Amino acid sequence: MSDINTIEKEALASIESAGDLGTLEDVRVAELGKKGRVSGLMKQLGGMSPEERKEMGPKLNALKTRVDEAIRTRKEALEAAALEAQLAREKVDLSLPPAPGPKAGALHPVMQVFEEIAAIFGDMGFAVAEGPDMEDDWHNFTALNFPEGHPARETHDTFFMKALEGDDAKVLRTHTSPVQIRTMMTQKPPIRIIAPGRVYRNDWDATHTPMFHQVEGLVIEKNTHMGHLKGCLIDFVKAFFEVDEVEARFRPHFFPFTEPSAEMDVKYTRKGETIEIGAGDSWMEILGSGMVHPNVLRNCGIDPKEYQGFAFGMGVDRLAMLKYGMPDLRPYFEADPQWTRHYGFAPWATPSVSGGLS
Ligand code: PHE
Repeated sequence: MSDINTIEKEALASIESAGDLGTLEDVRVAELGKKGRVSGLMKQLGGMSPEERKEMGPKLNALKTRVDEAIRTRKEALEAAALEAQLAREKVDLSLPPAPGPKAGALHPVMQVFEEIAAIFGDMGFAVAEGPDMEDDWHNFTALNFPEGHPARETHDTFFMKALEGDDAKVLRTHTSPVQIRTMMTQKPPIRIIAPGRVYRNDWDATHTPMFHQVEGLVIEKNTHMGHLKGCLIDFVKAFFEVDEVEARFRPHFFPFTEPSAEMDVKYTRKGETIEIGAGDSWMEILGSGMVHPNVLRNCGIDPKEYQGFAFGMGVDRLAMLKYGMPDLRPYFEADPQWTRHYGFAPWATPSVSGGLS
């Protein structure tokens, strides 16, 4: 039994030098396992005389306990070191910018421009009105003073829908002007609304898509005149393009539902790829407008001798192209996430006249 001390020294030395949990387990098996050295000594107790056993028993038990404790202590130290190493390896540096990849959704430029327009007109006291995309012929044309069979109906490249039995034929609205009619039929003047929405015409090239977006405006009061129309729209263009001055002209035009009618042109400068609105040597048409035709007022039960007002309509997709430098309209509706990421807006940055529009 002289090797108790030797075994203890060797066992403690190999426990101390075990560099990982696997090696430590090998040491445990070699000393305390069924066929281990310490277990082998314990087995010898059975063959000893009672006196020998009385002397050796406590010694061997103490050896077993010390080796066992040394293994447990070393195991804890190795486990703690392994955890440290893992934590160091898997550390996340939260101060780093996020890895490139899909980011949160972006607001489509058309939606952004809708919101900008609503913010500007909202500031002037306009409410937002809506109407259905699928209209009847009366709201889209007849009530707006398009005579039956008049060629103006054809210039709209209308999508006509098949009539259901016993029902009037429907069209996909070709402009937002039917919302004027719906508003005047249900509200008493004074009226001051804008109507943003989708409109449809059978057309397809770099600047025309079969579905596009317009914003309509309507003001009906007792004394509203052409001067108000001009002032309101010039103020709008200045606010929208974020410029101090805009040179504008109102060029006579024809719309069945306004008289007189005018298209509004603004001066612009082309600077390389981009266009600057406000001044320059070329004119660009940006919207249609006019004084609401007395027939339209009458069709809606409003007395043209008592009330008058103005209306305007503009293409939102084109305004967005001009303001944000997008050259082609078609990708607007191709749902390409790369395009949306490039031209889109942060959805939480609500435009406001005082806080900034874009
Ligand atoms: N509805 C016309 C269009 O789509 C625009 C317009 C609206 C013109 C209101 C005058 C007044 O072309």
